[in-house]
Amino acid sequence: MQSDADIHALAATLLDWYREMGVDAAVADHAVDWLARGDVAPGAAFRLPPSSVERIPEFPPPGGEGLGAGGIPTSHVRESPPPFPLPQGGRVASPRPDPRPGFTATPPDAAELAARTVARNAASLEELETALAAFDGCGLKATAKNLCFYRGSPRARLMISGEAPGRDEDLEGKPFVGRAGQLLDKMLAAIGLKEDDVHITNVVYWRPPGNRTPTPQESQVCRPFLERQMELVEPDIVLLLGGAAAKQVLDVTEGIMRIRGKWREIDIGGRPVRTMATLHPAYLLRTPAAKRQAWRDLLAVQAALESGPAK
Ligand code: URA
Repeated sequence: MQSDADIHALAATLLDWYREMGVDAAVADHAVDWLARGDVAPGAAFRLPPSSVERIPEFPPPGGEGLGAGGIPTSHVRESPPPFPLPQGGRVASPRPDPRPGFTATPPDAAELAARTVARNAASLEELETALAAFDGCGLKATAKNLCFYRGSPRARLMISGEAPGRDEDLEGKPFVGRAGQLLDKMLAAIGLKEDDVHITNVVYWRPPGNRTPTPQESQVCRPFLERQMELVEPDIVLLLGGAAAKQVLDVTEGIMRIRGKWREIDIGGRPVRTMATLHPAYLLRTPAAKRQAWRDLLAVQAALESGPAK
């Protein structure tokens, strides 16, 4: 019979092997024995239905999902169920980060201090990106493939921040280039804006393994960079996508449904700047009926841009 120590050693070896193979997130609570299912290709059960993979929904919402008479939706949109059950909270759990050989993250307090110093010293976005690329204080860097700094214009009246890069963003090294990003582009087009009119970023600059929400410490250590980025971009308005971005930038604890659609002021380098939180495009992809709320928020942003000072 095997002792507990043997079983633990075996489990550790197996986890090491998974890590070597690039497995960095659990996708379900139970393992699937693909060898016992000889007639089914490995992974077949996890394939997304083609409709949810290909189709980026329209924005603004067509027909009844728009701000129709009395703001009442006339069409009923059914939310498609996730292709496989997600753990509680809808997030895929992730194991501990897998530091690359030679990568040692700086301890949290020292890291935040270092972040403040290097971010403050950056005189341009180029310098800020160079400083970020050299910064080892955020543990997310260990598992990410690329730094995702921003896309869009270096100076813009509208700055947009999401939560964190996902898989597509990590591969390309740019924020919001996957499905959520495509919907974001449609949302912006709906209010007459294109990529060159905006500056798009995230509250953390590296992909969290398994697309989990960044920890408060990971967001906090990136914050000095985000603050400096805001100073350099000099936006008139900051649009925050989703609860994680809103909580981090606005320092609030309420959920996104409570804080969305309301104007709040933040101080950017001694300058008051208006912010609005709205629903994250990834949430809108899963919950099309919520698009009318996001549309309302975007119309408010459009009106504010039209009435505000031109850059
Ligand atoms: N979701 C985000 O919050 N940011 C991205 O860049 C992509 C998806």
